[in-house]
Amino acid sequence: MTGVEVQVEGLTKSFGKANIWSDVTLTLPPGEVSVLLGPSGTGKSVFLKTLIGLLKPEQGSIVINGTDLVRCSETELYEIRKLFGVLFQDGALFGSMNLYDNIAFPLREHTKKSETRIRDIVADKMDMVGLTGDEGKLPGEISGGMRKRAGLARALVLDPEIVLFDEPDSGLDPVRTAYLNQLIIDLNARTDATFLIVTHDINTAQTVPDNIGLLYRKHLAMFGPREQLLTSDEPVVAQFLNGRREGPIGMSEEKDSAQAEREMAEAGALEGRPPMKPQLGTSTGLGERSAVARRRDRVERMLHTLSPAAQQAIRESHAHDATGPDLATQVIPRVGSR
Ligand SMILES: Nc1ncnc2c1ncn2[C@@H]1O[C@H](COP(=O)(O)OP(=O)(O)O)[C@@H](O)[C@H]1O
Ligand SMILES: [Mg+2]
Repeated sequence: MTGVEVQVEGLTKSFGKANIWSDVTLTLPPGEVSVLLGPSGTGKSVFLKTLIGLLKPEQGSIVINGTDLVRCSETELYEIRKLFGVLFQDGALFGSMNLYDNIAFPLREHTKKSETRIRDIVADKMDMVGLTGDEGKLPGEISGGMRKRAGLARALVLDPEIVLFDEPDSGLDPVRTAYLNQLIIDLNARTDATFLIVTHDINTAQTVPDNIGLLYRKHLAMFGPREQLLTSDEPVVAQFLNGRREGPIGMSEEKDSAQAEREMAEAGALEGRPPMKPQLGTSTGLGERSAVARRRDRVERMLHTLSPAAQQAIRESHAHDATGPDLATQVIPRVGSR
């Protein structure tokens, strides 16, 4: 199974008079991993809910397999929704059901599979997320990390072609986040589904995705290959992806631009740019994700549209892919870091 492309064009969402974001245009390439970043309250969760048709945008289109979700019939929407698996922020498990029943729930609700068949599928998904042996536990008895993995197993149980993750790493310590990120990359290798991850974690954004988008000031500030955003000089992108205090995003409100520019100039003069981290590979024995080769071709075709720094970073990533995993731990210096 190969993930499907999701084409979002000119999407605008408001609640009453409150506009959340406008004119969001992006394409999630099939089977690739994309991350959506943005300050709290910018409407990232609203975006995910709009993608699965839980919220209706006022303008724009979301095209999947030739069908526009915004304008299709209820029956078509029901069919399209079956392509999605969603990991909600808290795992959204039923507190009174053990993990087995939680994970089996979508199969019992949406399919006519026998309990024997369900048992095999649940066992397979629980194995995928490392929960074998924990079938009888209640959500309240396990750690936050385990709840996320159980939520993930449930999101995968109908073999989705698109998986949406709403802050899968929130509330996890750095070690658990690292495990979860590896799990996400490995799951992408096994399923070749299209992944969209909303996160606040800079390390996740730097090392996991093929593509990154940033929602800021009610717009999609940028969306593109990871190298484009990780080498970007755009102040808000540079600030967000480096987790710096200096830049246009303030603690509670946007800073005035003169102060932001002063800080950026000082920070730039002091420390330059940190080197770009390499992208996380699959665990030993899994082989390369199918998306990697497709992305290489896709990004090479768009290379001429990108900044010189992004172009160089992409050439370095591709050379690095070609030389194999021995170099996977080496850090690639970024353009302009000297
Ligand atoms: N169902 C809703 N009705 C009205 N306002 C909503 C609804 N859902 C979200 N919002 C508002 O939309 C804004 C964006 O919310 P959200 O998508 O949760 O932000 P994020 O996930 O980026 O932190 C918030 O101001 C929130 O209050
Ligand atoms: Mg949210």
